[in-house]
Amino acid sequence: MPVVPATSENIDRAAALLRDGAVVAFPTETVYGLGANAFDARAVARIFEIKARPAFDPLIVHVSGDAMLAGVTSGVPPTARTLIDRFWPGPLTLVLRKNENIPDLVTAGLPTVAVRMPDHPIARALIERAATPVAAPSANPFGYLSPTRAEHVAQMLGERVDLILDGGPSEHGIESTIVMLEPHPTLLRPGAIPAEAIEALIGPLAYELSDAAAPLAPGRLAHHYAPHIPVRIVDDPATVPVAERGDAALLAFSDPVPGYRVTRTLSHTGDLREAAAHLFEYLHELDASGVVRIDVQRVPEEGIGIAIMDRLQRAARG
Ligand code: TXA
Ligand code: MG
Repeated sequence: MPVVPATSENIDRAAALLRDGAVVAFPTETVYGLGANAFDARAVARIFEIKARPAFDPLIVHVSGDAMLAGVTSGVPPTARTLIDRFWPGPLTLVLRKNENIPDLVTAGLPTVAVRMPDHPIARALIERAATPVAAPSANPFGYLSPTRAEHVAQMLGERVDLILDGGPSEHGIESTIVMLEPHPTLLRPGAIPAEAIEALIGPLAYELSDAAAPLAPGRLAHHYAPHIPVRIVDDPATVPVAERGDAALLAFSDPVPGYRVTRTLSHTGDLREAAAHLFEYLHELDASGVVRIDVQRVPEEGIGIAIMDRLQRAARG
């Protein structure tokens, strides 16, 4: 397996690989990304191939500074600047007008590009040393659970990736929040930064989270983030008949009940941030545990809990 610890030498090696058109998996504060030089259409094409990602689903471009941002976009509106000043580096992706140098493959032919500056020392060092913006989706096969550990990437994509930098578990465990700025500020994906924090700065957001035929974020499909076995959302696991528990797994929020073959608890104290950090990790474990179904206890839809339920609802729509 091409997994290596993210030492300074290995970050240099990964940066050189990116410059040479290779595909490298790397840690971010949200989930692991599968990166290629954003200006290299051939390298970016390999990302789509490795993930079996449909070409209509555009990628997020990761930058390490303002100069790089300027090379990716063609203008940053004042609302975007306000959000950048407050939330970057961090788990906020902004959809801005694209620079003509960005290949159409990256943006799926859209006139816009999604950009973020990750808040992870390894990701930032990698982008800086590669000296090029890095296009990177989450490092999982299209539609499957996102990776929050290097081992997840190795298990799912293995030798197809040129190098996997291991930087330990992802801090947030859930993807970035995506906001489109024009024609008016719109939330496209709930994520690690709660929408309220954004609205507090720039006013109300329009919500475009539907599964409309042509969603504004083309990759936001109704069925996504899913394990191989079925997922069912339950309000209160204690009401699930005991007969249905024996061959299933329970992903409890805070209150496990007996009778399930396997149980994981997202946060024993009911802390939503802790729950988000464990979400994909536990789903990976339960998916591989030999049960026939995963019952997931509903979490409160507040703060990052909104992003957790967004992922779970899509996972459950099998
Ligand atoms: O936290 C994250 O955002 C992670 C890490 C690796 O940065 N990345 C991630 O990428 O979640 P991905 O490819 O799994 O999700 C990207 C989403 C997709 O739903 C895609 O449709 C949307 O971003 N997107 C990308 N470019 C867009 C654009 N120009 N307009 C609207 N949506 C866009
Ligand atoms: Mg993804």
